[in-house]
Amino acid sequence: MSPNEVVERFERIAPVFDATRRPLEAEAAVRLVAALRELGAEPLLEVGVGTGRVAAPLRDLGVDLLGIDASRAMLARARAKGLSALLRGDATGLPFRDGAFPATLFAHVLHLFSDPAPVLSEAARVSRRWVLALVGTTVPPPLVPDPNDEDVRAILVEVLRASGHEVPSRARPKIRERAVLAAHQPDRSFALADRLTERSFEDELRGFQLRGDRTTMDAPPELLAHALSEVRRRRGDRPIVMRESLTLVAWAPARFFPPAGPKTTVR
Ligand SMILES: C[S@@+](CC[C@H](N)C(=O)[O-])C[C@H]1O[C@@H](n2cnc3c(N)ncnc32)[C@H](O)[C@@H]1O
Repeated sequence: MSPNEVVERFERIAPVFDATRRPLEAEAAVRLVAALRELGAEPLLEVGVGTGRVAAPLRDLGVDLLGIDASRAMLARARAKGLSALLRGDATGLPFRDGAFPATLFAHVLHLFSDPAPVLSEAARVSRRWVLALVGTTVPPPLVPDPNDEDVRAILVEVLRASGHEVPSRARPKIRERAVLAAHQPDRSFALADRLTERSFEDELRGFQLRGDRTTMDAPPELLAHALSEVRRRRGDRPIVMRESLTLVAWAPARFFPPAGPKTTVR
């Protein structure tokens, strides 16, 4: 997907973005603020601030933050939350002088770039102390093996594709984020959350009904309804149990200065 297509997708998803993503947990937000203070990261630049899903709780906890994003619709949602230090702009060419901020934060953004190296270098250029990233993992817990527990998304994709609907491949955020970490060993790392979560089947389905991601956003309504009923028929309405973790990683900006590190392209 080209950078323009990525932004176009967020323009469309903006109205349902918050309803289809989990909020930043209060406890994780408090830990994140403590880490930012320890790192001397304020005033912080958040690149890809989106609807302010992360920025708004940080602002509520007193963090001095400026958010930048390429999508007008996402920024409009952030503004509606009372965030005012917002700017439209592109991560590949930030409109700031060298070293303008102590730190730059990417929250669930790096996976969107097939090659995040130029974006990381650009963040490093405007950061005096740190380039930061919030990275998460969401995996079914190994302690709860359930042979019948078919993944909701996998069934949806299978049914949609079997009916001839073209489902684009996923951005695979967690895999891409892991590739970034493998290519660029962080200098510091802060565990913010690691816990088992249980989500009701209805809540899980609602996210897909709202077409909040690329699996469902272009599916015709009748076909989506059929696919969702097929999910219910096949796996039943057992709740979805996941192990979720959230980590803040920090790199010294010099890590991304030329000569560039190894490429982190993931196909
Ligand atoms: C998955 S959302 C994350 C938003 C927010 N950080 C969060 O955690 O909820 C990714 C955001 O990055 C923005 N984005 C994508 N490509 C961008 C680019 N090249 N420059 C600036 N923002 C970009 C999108 O518009 C979107 O708001």
